[in-house]
Amino acid sequence: MTVSTDCQLNPDTRPDTDSEAYRQAYSRINGVVVVGETLAHHHFRRLARAIPADGAELLRLGQMEGNHAREFSECARNLGVRPDIRLAKQLFSPLHQLFRQSDERGDIPACLVIQCLIVECFAVAAYRSYLPVADAFARPITAAVIEDESEHLDYGEVWLKQRFEAVKDSVSAICLQALPTTLAILRALVDDMRVVGMDPYDLVASFGEGFQQSLETIGYGSSEAARLLRRAMAA
Ligand SMILES: [Fe+2]
Ligand SMILES: [Fe+2]
Repeated sequence: MTVSTDCQLNPDTRPDTDSEAYRQAYSRINGVVVVGETLAHHHFRRLARAIPADGAELLRLGQMEGNHAREFSECARNLGVRPDIRLAKQLFSPLHQLFRQSDERGDIPACLVIQCLIVECFAVAAYRSYLPVADAFARPITAAVIEDESEHLDYGEVWLKQRFEAVKDSVSAICLQALPTTLAILRALVDDMRVVGMDPYDLVASFGEGFQQSLETIGYGSSEAARLLRRAMAA
C-alpha cells in the first residue's frame, strides 16, 4: 500500500496547534497512540513466545511497535505537549486484559485477532484519518507507520487464513468480546478527534470496512463477516 504524504489542507481549515483546546485534545489522543503502540510492542513479544516458529519475525514486528511509540512521543514533544498516559492506560485496559487472558489460556487465534486484526485495523483507520490534519513534523512519521501497521495486519491474516476452519469459532467469539472495548476507546475520544480536525464517524466507518475486509481475507463469507461485525459493534 502506498500512502501519499501530500495532504495539504486549506490554511483556513487547518487546526491551530497552539490553541489550548488543541493541546489538551492532542494530549489525550497522543496518549492513546503511545500507550497503544507500547502495548502492541508487549503483545508481539508475547506472541513470539506463543509461536516460537515465527519468534524472530514477531520480535521484529514488536520492535517496530516500540519505534512507533518513540516516534509518536517525539511528535508530542515537538508540540510541547505531554501525553495523557494515565487516561490512555485506563482506556486500553479492558482490551489488554482480554489479550492477557487469551494468552494465558493458550488461545493464539484470539491473541492474533486482538493484536493483528483489531488493533492494527484500528491503527490504520486512525492514522489515515489523522494524516490529512497532521502537523508537518508528524505527517511523514504517520505515513511511514501506516505502512508498518499494514504489514502487521498481513501477518495475522496469513496465520489465521491458513488455519481458518480450526480457528473460526475462536475468532468469532473474541470479536464479540473485543470489538466493543475497542469502540469504547474511540467513543471516549470523539470530541478530541473533532478538535484536532479528524472526523470520528469516518474513522469508525473506515475501521469497520477494514475489519470486515480482514474477516473476508481470512475466510469468512462477506454476509457472514458483515453479520459478525454488526453483532460485535452493537454489543
Ligand atoms: Fe504500531
Ligand atoms: Fe502494528
